[in-house]
Amino acid sequence: MKFITVDTYDKLSRQAANIISAQVILKPDSVLGLATGSSPLGTYKQLIEWYEKGDIDFSQVTSVNLDEYVGLDGTNDQSYRYFMDNNFFNHINIKKENTFVPDGCAKDLTAEGDGYDMHIKSLGGIDLQLLGIGLDGHIGFNEPDSVFVKSTHVVDLHESTIKANSRFFANENEVPKQAITMGMASIMQAKKILLIANGAAKKGILEKAFFGPITPMVPASILQLHPDVTVIYSEN
Ligand code: F6R
Repeated sequence: MKFITVDTYDKLSRQAANIISAQVILKPDSVLGLATGSSPLGTYKQLIEWYEKGDIDFSQVTSVNLDEYVGLDGTNDQSYRYFMDNNFFNHINIKKENTFVPDGCAKDLTAEGDGYDMHIKSLGGIDLQLLGIGLDGHIGFNEPDSVFVKSTHVVDLHESTIKANSRFFANENEVPKQAITMGMASIMQAKKILLIANGAAKKGILEKAFFGPITPMVPASILQLHPDVTVIYSEN
């Protein structure tokens, strides 16, 4: 594991964008696993800037996102599909049909999860997975649990996650209580993992996840078993 500490969010974002852009330059048809939330916003902004300068070409890239709220479709401005379109995909030359986000409105969410995993497999797996980390150690929406769940599945969001994510909604009651998330198998089978975290509040959970025991009660701790993980942390 490589643990990189920088002093500003801007540097974190540029380093993360550098790693992603190197991936796309070296393998133009990369499968990128992508995340939402506030952590990757600066990374996406930087990648858009480099795309506009002509430095990166996403035309052959495929993306698979980690998760989606149950019950929100892509027209809902709180959905993760909407987030990805507006903060990244609409500003680069990735083909929309090559961008995948789990469908939180699927009638059969179990079938949706199984289909999502099969699809990732059919793409040859994920080349580079970008992750954030929740205050309770979740990655994707794999919340603390008694087991690591392998497949893409529906989860009940924990109180702390609902609270943390309520900052994007009018109030806490509007935050969906469930999400569909990529499971640990697809994440752990990614060839490379890049986890980004900023803010002093994340320091404690990063220590637990990367230097504490490996336990499903700290879902990100499973990453200690992955052979190619880079963590970039900025305290600000
Ligand atoms: C989002 C996701 C989540 C976030 C995590 C941190 O797709 O998978 O695991 O990465 O909740 O969110 P932020 O970056 O908003 O602190």
